[in-house]
Amino acid sequence: MNIAFDLMKVTEAAAIEAAKWVGTGRKRAGDGAAVAAMRKAFSNIDLSGRVVIGEGEKDEAPMLYTGEEVGNGQGLAVDIAVDPVEGTNLMALGRPNAIAVLGASPRGSMYDPGPSYYMNKLVVPKAAAQVVDIDAPVEDNLDNTAKALGKAVRDLVIFVLDKPRHVELIRRIRAKGARVQLHTDGDVAGSLMAVTPGSGVDMMMGTGGTPEGVISACAVVALGGAIFGRLDPKTEEERKAVIEYGTEIDRVLTTTDLVDSEKACFVATGISGGTFLAGVENDESGIITHSMVLDGGAGHLCMVRSVHTNLG
Ligand code: FBP
Repeated sequence: MNIAFDLMKVTEAAAIEAAKWVGTGRKRAGDGAAVAAMRKAFSNIDLSGRVVIGEGEKDEAPMLYTGEEVGNGQGLAVDIAVDPVEGTNLMALGRPNAIAVLGASPRGSMYDPGPSYYMNKLVVPKAAAQVVDIDAPVEDNLDNTAKALGKAVRDLVIFVLDKPRHVELIRRIRAKGARVQLHTDGDVAGSLMAVTPGSGVDMMMGTGGTPEGVISACAVVALGGAIFGRLDPKTEEERKAVIEYGTEIDRVLTTTDLVDSEKACFVATGISGGTFLAGVENDESGIITHSMVLDGGAGHLCMVRSVHTNLG
């Protein structure tokens, strides 16, 4: 969709505001500032957007709530998934890889996560898309991905969130001889790295947020890899809510199930500096942002360095 560069202005605005809170220990304040900036930036875009993945339900989230209409109502009708600060802890603690992200796809094509918080995910580059199976043993997926990528298993790097729930997964990956890259937060960046050649990460495995899974799918569509997911409720309450919502809980979700359009686009702007996207910087020319713009329809991947000279 040719709105990808307009949408970049939205993640840039969020990143610039969030960056003011990096290292302050105040994740809610930073997130709130990013949400407000993102919403304001949306209003300047020719877009008829509906938030499918936002900051929560209307009563809890004053802005960018699920179902909210964004844009000036005059452009393409799209579903929107936002995460103004992906990695709120990373931002608050001054750690790398906090990013402002957004996915968009034609209206009606985005998976509705409903009340599901957690999803088990397996993300691989294009070359391995046909040889993995989220139901197969981890060891088989490592073997098959290594073969598909023309690598030895010992050279594979797997992005995993550093959570107690992943102790056994990490043990099995290491026992097989592959390497684990542990991150405290930020599995959208992990998914992005898994499908970006040369990122230093070959796969992403493990359970993270369901909304983050759908946002990641927008990037995967545009970059041509594959994401497989299965809802993985962490409490009985979550399980019940998902079933009551009418969601098929045990279904394996493919990239197409998560975003059913080749025209999906994805934009990310760095907040705190990271290995993947540099953070917001200031110099005598203005505020500098670094973004990744993926346009599935056009087949474009652009890395954009913007200098913002007129922010007042
Ligand atoms: P937030 O930005 O909402 O804090 O999410 C960060 C994150 O690490 C996501 O990248 C990931 O999908 C999710 O949290 C994992 O959740 P949890 O920390 O509860 O395991």
